[in-house]
Amino acid sequence: MRNKVLVFGSCNLDMVFSVPHIALPGETIGAAGVALHCGGKGLNQAVALARAGIPTAFAGSIGADGASLRGMLNENGVDTAYLLDSGVPTGRAIIQVADNGENSIVLYPGANQDITRQQIDAALSEFSAGDVIVLQNEISEIIYLIERASSLGLRIVLNPSPFNAVFRTVDLSRLALLIVNETEAAGFTGSADTDAFLQWAAQNCPSLPCVLTLGAAGSVYTCDGYIVRQPAIKADVVDTTCAGDTFTGYFLAARLRGQDVPAALEIAARAAALTISQPGAAESIPLAEQLAK
Ligand code: RIB
Repeated sequence: MRNKVLVFGSCNLDMVFSVPHIALPGETIGAAGVALHCGGKGLNQAVALARAGIPTAFAGSIGADGASLRGMLNENGVDTAYLLDSGVPTGRAIIQVADNGENSIVLYPGANQDITRQQIDAALSEFSAGDVIVLQNEISEIIYLIERASSLGLRIVLNPSPFNAVFRTVDLSRLALLIVNETEAAGFTGSADTDAFLQWAAQNCPSLPCVLTLGAAGSVYTCDGYIVRQPAIKADVVDTTCAGDTFTGYFLAARLRGQDVPAALEIAARAAALTISQPGAAESIPLAEQLAK
């Protein structure tokens, strides 16, 4: 039987403002446009996995205002049996997207922080050793979730985003894959330097597959002394939101299909390039057929 894949994570309604530049402290600027998109790192990664062709289930919480997010997951074939309706309003993100595609995000967690140990236990009881669970850091009880998933023998993919200090206490031997960007890498190592991350990984978790994404500088993979670098694929940048989520979903999908690391990094880079050439979060994630060479 094929192992199941569960994303346990956040759903957000993203309100996206198109601005000339990210507003500075004390500055008021005008937006050329505003749009509402489906987002949340959990939802985005679940959609990326599904669009990459991996049957995926999603667990999380939304409020009464979150029907469009459930709809987005369902339309993409994601199983929402573990997505609960909470009494708390759905998570919201206020996103500024600048003319150069850079973004800045403010999160109101809402229902994402209403996830309880009971909900976690109920969802995980449907999964067993060898199944894959994909986690970020926009929901409550993340450390409990890691511990429960580990005790059940699930293969844990952790994207500790946004980073906070609690991840420094996580037993890395519980993980099957760690995916970080430069900010999250610096959270572990204290430095934004790529070599510092490679050294940290070699010292702290030598046999854990780790991917560091570097934006326009591409990505690097390390495990057991094997290092692979992947340049970024050129794109006309419209909106960088969701690039990391798309990369995570496509990289993991390729590895689950048995593709080797260089091929998985390349497909993830191509998917991320397509994402940043489109506006929005989940809506901007490409379909697998768009990646065919
Ligand atoms: O990674 C992008 C996502 O971060 C956005 O969709 C927003 O909701 C925040 O969670």
